[in-house]
Amino acid sequence: MGALEGKTALVFGVANHNSIAWAITQKLAAEGVRLALTYQERMEQNVRKLAATLDQPLVLPCDVQSDADLDTTFARVGEEFGGLDILVHCVAFAPTEDLKGRVSRVSRAGFLTALDVSAYSLMAMAGRAEPLMQARGGGSVLALTYLGSERVVPGYNLMGVAKAALETAIRYLAWDLGPQNIRVNGISAGPLRTLSARGVGNINDMFTLVEQVAPLRRNIEQSNVGDVAAYLLSPAASAITGDIIYVDNGFHVMGLGAM
Ligand SMILES: NC(=O)c1ccc[n+]([C@@H]2O[C@H](COP(=O)([O-])OP(=O)(O)OC[C@H]3O[C@@H](n4cnc5c(N)ncnc54)[C@H](O)[C@@H]3O)[C@@H](O)[C@H]2O)c1
Repeated sequence: MGALEGKTALVFGVANHNSIAWAITQKLAAEGVRLALTYQERMEQNVRKLAATLDQPLVLPCDVQSDADLDTTFARVGEEFGGLDILVHCVAFAPTEDLKGRVSRVSRAGFLTALDVSAYSLMAMAGRAEPLMQARGGGSVLALTYLGSERVVPGYNLMGVAKAALETAIRYLAWDLGPQNIRVNGISAGPLRTLSARGVGNINDMFTLVEQVAPLRRNIEQSNVGDVAAYLLSPAASAITGDIIYVDNGFHVMGLGAM
């Protein structure tokens, strides 16, 4: 029996088969985890098709900007699963005009939307997950981030600001929820070709640069993130919390670009 066999997980952020959330979902499913997936309304068809390949997951609509949606989602998970062991946050958004434009010209509304969807949502989810995880004697929370939170990555712009807030939330949530035996961590993934990544400027240049500069001289794949996620969410990582683990073929250790 695997370390995650029989655990329950709630995953936010599957949009299609390229989604990082889908790679994590598949890995958790293979480990024998009972799954609940949420979808943003416009993604329903895609998500239901993917969910049909799993063993009867719970599939729920949830816009993370809606407190009512979040309340309903966690209530349903509580009813169906009687508790929750794993929460996966793979959600991010910034309005295109604010993401593509200059940082000094970001609108107040764009900033608030980006921070709401991409950072506040983790705090909103964690608070609702707490009682469900307490019912299980603890739990593990995972969110996805990117290096653009701590270094300037031209084109990442407003999303870098949002990811900085997300990473700080990870650390404060780890401290806040630690007494309940709930761990909170992040994975800082290298660039991947997903729906969201299309909105980031210079994404093709980023792939080329990673191939030239990363110590492993290649780009990552979604499954690399799924593997590390399964580890971080498992008891093997029971002493790791408040941390950000890089899954980027070592790119973040480099001090110089292509030479
Ligand atoms: N793709 C990359 O290069 C990369 C690298 C590092 C980190 N990440 C992060 O990984 C996570 C997953 O992104 P992805 O690359 O798999 O792209 P994706 O487009 O597949 O996933 C993003 C998800 O966010 C959801 N979402 C956006 N606004 C929402 C809302 N209001 N309510 C509910 N859901 C909403 C979308 O429906 C989608 O499922 C994001 O946090 C992203 O920033 C991505």
